[in-house]
Amino acid sequence: MLGKIEIPGKVVVIADEAIAGRYRVKCDLTISIPNQKTKENYEWIIEQLFLHDCDRYTTLVAIGGGTICDLVGYVAATFMRGLPLVLIPTTLLAIVDASIGGKTAIDTPHGKNLIGSLYFPKKVIADLDVLKTLPKCEFLNGMAEILKMGLIHDPSLFTMECGDEQIVKAMLAKRKVVEEDPEEKGFRRILNFGHTIGHGIEKANEIPHGRAVAMGSLAESYLSMQLGFLNEKEFEKIQILYQQFQLKLPTPYSREQILKKMGHDKKKKEGTLRIVLIDQIGHALPFQGNYCYPVSEKQLEGTFDWLEKHYV
Ligand SMILES: NC(=O)c1ccc[n+]([C@@H]2O[C@H](COP(=O)([O-])OP(=O)(O)OC[C@H]3O[C@@H](n4cnc5c(N)ncnc54)[C@H](O)[C@@H]3O)[C@@H](O)[C@H]2O)c1
Repeated sequence: MLGKIEIPGKVVVIADEAIAGRYRVKCDLTISIPNQKTKENYEWIIEQLFLHDCDRYTTLVAIGGGTICDLVGYVAATFMRGLPLVLIPTTLLAIVDASIGGKTAIDTPHGKNLIGSLYFPKKVIADLDVLKTLPKCEFLNGMAEILKMGLIHDPSLFTMECGDEQIVKAMLAKRKVVEEDPEEKGFRRILNFGHTIGHGIEKANEIPHGRAVAMGSLAESYLSMQLGFLNEKEFEKIQILYQQFQLKLPTPYSREQILKKMGHDKKKKEGTLRIVLIDQIGHALPFQGNYCYPVSEKQLEGTFDWLEKHYV
């Protein structure tokens, strides 16, 4: 038994090697793995599962941040067409976001999360005590996802205050959005706010996901204002709060590289990028149930002009 789940076969723990020693889960095999969701790590884990005679009754337990949750989730989704999965997220970002909603993926040199699947865990075990060892910069990465949820859905989450109650509220908010639209046919797309530009920045410069999402959320808020959906006063409030992140465009900076990486964004349709926009803090625009808006290259250039003026 692990919590309330029946475990019919072996239990294999796959943990971030940097923190694996800190947690003890009774299991048949522990695999420590570098914190990267690469094809190489994916293949290595699969090989270990074969070498240790794992079968489709084996339960995988992932211990780590969003990187490990995504990687192990994808292993669980694909090994023998699907193994029971338990996630034990250990970063703020993984607790409030990556462990909830069933998205699993690995990165490729062509872009982030381009190989993956939707595969829900049997259980997520979040112990907020793990956050005591989290460095401040990692805490801020998690805050970026909480603030994003504040911008798109629940204005009470748009604050830098982050006690246990606030964390639980953020988890429940994400769960609610996912439950309403598990397969991302419409409403769930709001969670991609900040991620179109954010992923471009993240991939072009290899910066942490949360930091890129903070920059992307600010940029996509500006875009919302530039396109006439968000008023200036509301945007000012957003810009003031993000000052606490001391955001700067990463170096070496190349607009072309970022736009190129954004080109691989999964929300692209027929050559046009579709971006989630807001009309006030706490509300993403529905756009007839599509929850994203086609943005031309020229409009995007305007946002990048503004970013470069203020954040280089
Ligand atoms: N599946 C989803 O829905 C989803 C959502 C958001 C982000 N993600 C993915 O999550 C990844 C980012 O995850 P992340 O921000 O958690 O970073 P991460 O998993 O890369 O971890 C960041 C760092 O924190 C360390 N760490 C982990 N737990 C710790 C602890 N308790 N104490 C001290 N150090 C600890 C790790 O070793 C690592 O060095 C990205 O790949 C992103 O694409 C997925």
